[in-house]
Amino acid sequence: MTAPHLIVNDLSVSMEGRELLHGLSFELEPGGRLGLIGGSGSGKTLTALAIAGLLPENARVSGSIRVRLSGERGDESDGGSGGGSGGGSGGGPDGEHELVGLPDREFAALRGDLIGMVFQEPKTALNPLRRLGRQMTESLALHYALTRRQRREAALRLAARVGLSDPERMVRAYPHEVSGGQRQRAAIAAAISANPGLLLADEPTTALDVTVQRGVLRLFRELTETDACSLLFITHNLAVMAEVVDRVLVLDAGRIVEQGAVADILTAPAHPVTRQLIDAAASEAGMAQPGREAREARESRESREAREGREGRETREERG
Ligand SMILES: Nc1ncnc2c1ncn2[C@@H]1O[C@H](COP(=O)(O)OP(=O)(O)O)[C@@H](O)[C@H]1O
Ligand SMILES: [Mg+2]
Repeated sequence: MTAPHLIVNDLSVSMEGRELLHGLSFELEPGGRLGLIGGSGSGKTLTALAIAGLLPENARVSGSIRVRLSGERGDESDGGSGGGSGGGSGGGPDGEHELVGLPDREFAALRGDLIGMVFQEPKTALNPLRRLGRQMTESLALHYALTRRQRREAALRLAARVGLSDPERMVRAYPHEVSGGQRQRAAIAAAISANPGLLLADEPTTALDVTVQRGVLRLFRELTETDACSLLFITHNLAVMAEVVDRVLVLDAGRIVEQGAVADILTAPAHPVTRQLIDAAASEAGMAQPGREAREARESRESREAREGREGRETREERG
């Protein structure tokens, strides 16, 4: 599907009588890549959950979260998900939907093909008892009546799409039989299977080691380029963020304290919190990197692999 235009205006969220997000306003243009960065507890996950309609029942939400879909997309939804999204606070003729206050059932119908989500820990996102191929195609199978064979073919295609080498083995494997990087790629495959216009990724590489992280970050960038979907990418690590997004919002204690182009934020941070995040990212990189020689060796190997073709996308470390 085509990417939506996401417009968040004066969004506040309270729980247990405490306001946790205070009037956030931002936009994500169709096909845009926006980063949400902030320290632990700054409100990143709550923001993502609000957009995905997955806040806990006791959360009180005010303000507005609108998605504007192109006409093309509006036509598609007539036949497809069957949620009857025409009424109440739902879409107008131009396909604009207000997500705040949207009833659960309508939200579920819309979310299915609008939003794909990837979380920090693929171990918990994936069911340990089901083969990866089945999990990659779960949301597809909800949308379309697929034969066994079609579903298997879709799984193989998705595995290749997210750069998993040996797709035949991968779709048959259980989560514990593959590496952390491979699990996260499988989780990404599941998130993109129904071709969502908006990809929400909450710390998707935080549990991975540095080298594996790189490959997965590259995959996110590729997906937004080739599938023309929008990306909201959440992390506490500015260095990671810089690899994937164009624009950044800095959150602190439930407020946006700074926003701008990623290059400007990195080179001339205006807010003390942003400067702290930059310092933290630098020291994290310092600790995690095996030293200059090893890094250079890896970089030259990566460029060799890039030259040799796309099989090189999944790094050796990820397989191990
Ligand atoms: N279910 C909840 N009930 C009460 N408070 C919550 C809940 N979830 C998160 N919070 C609080 O909201 C704030 C923001 O949390 P969160 O969005 O998870 O932060 P981040 O993802 O940036 O680390 C924190 O102070 C956290 O304690
Ligand atoms: Mg979080």
